[in-house]
Amino acid sequence: MSEHKMHPESKMMSHGYNPEWSEGAIKCPIFQTSTFVFPTAEAGKAFFEVASGLREKGQQEKVGLIYSRLNNPDLEILEDRLCLWDEAEACAVFESGMSAISTALMEFLSPGDLLLFSGPLYGGSDHFIKHFLTRFGIHAMEFNASESMEDLIGRIREKGLENKLRMIFLETPANPTNCLYDISLYRKLADYFSTADNRVLVGVDNTYLGPVFQHPLKHGADLVIYSATKYIGGHSDVIAGACLGSKALIQRIKGLRTYFGNMAGPWTGWLLMRSLETLKIRMERQAANASVLADYLTHHPKIHDVHYLGYLTEADGDQYEILKNNASPPAP
Ligand SMILES: Cc1ncc(COP(=O)(O)O)c(C=O)c1O
Repeated sequence: MSEHKMHPESKMMSHGYNPEWSEGAIKCPIFQTSTFVFPTAEAGKAFFEVASGLREKGQQEKVGLIYSRLNNPDLEILEDRLCLWDEAEACAVFESGMSAISTALMEFLSPGDLLLFSGPLYGGSDHFIKHFLTRFGIHAMEFNASESMEDLIGRIREKGLENKLRMIFLETPANPTNCLYDISLYRKLADYFSTADNRVLVGVDNTYLGPVFQHPLKHGADLVIYSATKYIGGHSDVIAGACLGSKALIQRIKGLRTYFGNMAGPWTGWLLMRSLETLKIRMERQAANASVLADYLTHHPKIHDVHYLGYLTEADGDQYEILKNNASPPAP
């Protein structure tokens, strides 16, 4: 075979799975098990040491499966496959989009920290930030797309929180307005407030354009988060979430996931692997259908306003530029 790099959509049926592991089954089975058997007590001890962070995995060491709250083939193979779309080093899958978002925010924020977040956000994220995180002394500051970097720097300084910024959380396009945020601009803002021992993180909820049409890690985000319930799942039969980024960041998120116990189950993992096989073709078709629907609704006498990204033109200024630079929707 040549060195030709295959597209993610071509690898969704096979990547990360070897039929020899499962009696030759071409498709990864559902590993519906709570616990795994270790070859020896010593091997079990070694697996636990790595899984619980007591020591680093040796270079040649293969860490076996332990307990489905920590790892399970349906989750690990799904995580490997999800990484391909965003070219991420690592991924953690969850039983809902909200558990991915809440776990990522709770892992990196501590009392006294400042979280800057774009508005509007999906209602669940908005509520979690404004009514839950704030109970733990986390400062939450909402901003909108019309505020410049200078405005935001000024607002942070006015509150005396310039040494407290820990994370910028964006939802782009925003639910429900489709407002777009320029990921690379907020990377610059994060860098402006970062210090040698505090890299301000940029997290992006990429539910609406990803993982096919927008890849936040390429624009400077540290974390990309999904409600996999939407396009990734795609069949209205599963609630799930995912968070992707560097190995180091995802290892921390997986640590908290182990203690919250909000990992996806094996059946969810299997359903999402089934869904990934058709992800690209579904999203392209849905984008084409959306354009027909938008045209229909625009001319409907009872419809006042249609927020459709395909209608953005140069006259829309920044929003059009962001769409052009951050996202690559197919031609309608
Ligand atoms: C943009 C966005 N993020 C996150 C979520 C939450 O995901 P879930 O319902 O899978 O928990 C939703 C749900 O609608 C959403 O629209």
